[in-house]
Amino acid sequence: MKTTPEQITNQVVASFDGAPTRLLQVMSALVRHLHEFAIEVGLTQDEWAEGIKILTDTGHITDEKRHEFILWSDALGFSMLVDALEHDLPEGATESTVLGPFFVANSPLREYGDNIAEQAAGDPTWVHGRVLAIDGEPIAGAELDVWQNGDNRLYAVQDPDAPEEHLRGRFRTRDDGSYAFIAVRPVPYTIPDDGPVGRMLARTGRHPWRPAHIHIIVRAPGYRTLTTHIFDLSSDYLDSDAVFAVKRSLLRTFVRHSEADPRTPAGIVGDWYSVENDLVLVPGEAEEPNDPGRTA
Ligand code: BEZ
Ligand code: FE
Repeated sequence: MKTTPEQITNQVVASFDGAPTRLLQVMSALVRHLHEFAIEVGLTQDEWAEGIKILTDTGHITDEKRHEFILWSDALGFSMLVDALEHDLPEGATESTVLGPFFVANSPLREYGDNIAEQAAGDPTWVHGRVLAIDGEPIAGAELDVWQNGDNRLYAVQDPDAPEEHLRGRFRTRDDGSYAFIAVRPVPYTIPDDGPVGRMLARTGRHPWRPAHIHIIVRAPGYRTLTTHIFDLSSDYLDSDAVFAVKRSLLRTFVRHSEADPRTPAGIVGDWYSVENDLVLVPGEAEEPNDPGRTA
């Protein structure tokens, strides 16, 4: 009698019988789904070899700064799926989204209202709001860790001409939970597309663009650390984000002001924008994101 694909799958799944409970569950489901995938598409040996080459290329381009495996996870919507499974937040809590590869730890601590742009980088934008608990109570002393790209589309870590601490900073909320800083109006940009992920996007007719956004991590003792974005409601690509990270609840209006506006914050010259964004946290453990971001 000849061996069937089903027998092969069963044999591999059975090989994990001695594994600890969770590992047994994960490994056997992984093997079952991987085998089912090959059976469903009728995977050829040439396609298998192509897949191995893509994984090999992904390993070769990956280093401490470039996490191409995470980029695969992002571009296939897997990062957002895992985030959704882990953060099943109650109604009213600010939704989370991807960290992305351009987070750099230990950004400079700045004061309320400071500018994160260390050189000209776009239209000045007053970003303000409050950090609140789910019951509406303000959270004093919460830390906001913010970073963004400039109007040349680049994050400082990608831009050899930018000062190291450009377009990033950490801020603490005041007693009433309020925070404010001067940023620039973000512009859409492309995810790194010069590697295997970029080739997948090109081959499948997808584009590499992300809609305009500002990144924020919020940390406060006794609350779940929140990794999120402010998206510009009027940006292109909101409906086709290359990493599927847009959530409707995170869209915000950037309001234009003339420099004659009496509310023009100190430190802003010329016309400017403002965007208001309250951040609502849920009780829990203040853990750092697992994703390493850009560590070097
Ligand atoms: C980002 O927003 O910085 C980003 C997120 C996922 C992949 C690439 C970039
Ligand atoms: Fe980003």
